Amino acid sequence: MSKTDFNERTAIRDGQEMAKAGYKVPFGTVSITLKAKQLIEDAIERKWLTKGRYVKEFEEKFAALFGVKYGIAVSSGTDADAIACASLYDFGAKRGDEIIIPSLTFVATGNAVLQAGFKPVFVDINRETLNIDPLKVKKAITPRTRAIMPVHLMGKPAAMDEIMAIARKHKLYVIEDAAEAHGAEYKGTKIGSIGDMACFSLYAAHIVTTIEGGMIITDNEAIAQAARSLRNHGIEGKFQFKRIGFSAKMNEIEAAVGLGNIEIFQDILEKRRQNVRHLIKAFSKFEKYFWYLKEESHEVLGPHAFSIIIKPGFNFTKDEFVSYLEHEGVDSRNLFYTIPTQTESYQFMGYKLGDFPESEYCSDNGTHIGCHQDVGPSQMDYVIEVVDKFLKSKGHTV
Ligand SMILES: Cc1ncc(COP(=O)(O)O)c(C=O)c1O
Repeated sequence: MSKTDFNERTAIRDGQEMAKAGYKVPFGTVSITLKAKQLIEDAIERKWLTKGRYVKEFEEKFAALFGVKYGIAVSSGTDADAIACASLYDFGAKRGDEIIIPSLTFVATGNAVLQAGFKPVFVDINRETLNIDPLKVKKAITPRTRAIMPVHLMGKPAAMDEIMAIARKHKLYVIEDAAEAHGAEYKGTKIGSIGDMACFSLYAAHIVTTIEGGMIITDNEAIAQAARSLRNHGIEGKFQFKRIGFSAKMNEIEAAVGLGNIEIFQDILEKRRQNVRHLIKAFSKFEKYFWYLKEESHEVLGPHAFSIIIKPGFNFTKDEFVSYLEHEGVDSRNLFYTIPTQTESYQFMGYKLGDFPESEYCSDNGTHIGCHQDVGPSQMDYVIEVVDKFLKSKGHTV
């Protein structure tokens, strides 16, 4: 499908603002479909804009995408993470208990654990997969550990077999942070359906988006009930407040955008997969210089973006590389800072630089670029051409 066909069918927006800003390969995009526009108009006509029938329909259809029973729509991916954690209080967890998370992820994962009243215990990642290292997870378990929260960064599944085995052995819950991994598969199973519950960000630039929004999915009715209560101030029954809750409901307009996205979910996913596979294939010629996102035989990516990490020993820095991309119109984002040691707001936890060497290396030397549905093979070829030119400008032969 050409870029034009896709935009005409899905209607409306293709990163126009980014294009205006001069990017040839913008980082993200939002698809607002004609169906979404109709539903939004209908909700306005009915004057029912807070949580209503579209939120319910969206929850059911979203959960069905992953073959899971319950979906609980919330106002952000961060709220989804925090509410998922807070649901553990229904199952014996106490404030101040520990939840294990990777040291390299978007800061929201750590913030959500703290906002829910738990202590995040950080574990280093594997440089090649960018995901939490299961061997190091084992060592981080203490009598106060209640859950492991793996993140499927960039849409690449974490090592779920190992993580689930550790969790079952130590009687821990597994909360998948699948914010960036809509549609990914691990050994034939959908990401989001492996742990006890999974959390998605529906922020613009993610595969299914509501512009701002999040979703918790689970097969466990008791977890679903706790999450529904927690998103609405902890309410249960008639104005009774059973839990310390959040104010995190989704509204009808957001759900309408999400319902439109669900209709084109497979198209978006396939387009992103084509883009990312195109890059993976072409980047094999740059293997000497970079680690980059890869798709292994046991998995299918649900691509969020394409990560590039500069290997050690070359005569250029990440900043030089990123400035070159920027100058040539390729938008990028830093590969997140290591939360416990490179994020100012986490200094209070007392970790020190060097505690997470793998993730610190990736933060210092990594970036990620867009591979979304409104770019296609020609933009991916352009990225490859720019990287090639950059390496040659530094005296390398590719
Ligand atoms: C891994 C991860 N977790 C959580 C979030 C938080 O999502 P939101 O921005 O919707 O709050 C994000 C955001 O993209 C993310 O990448």
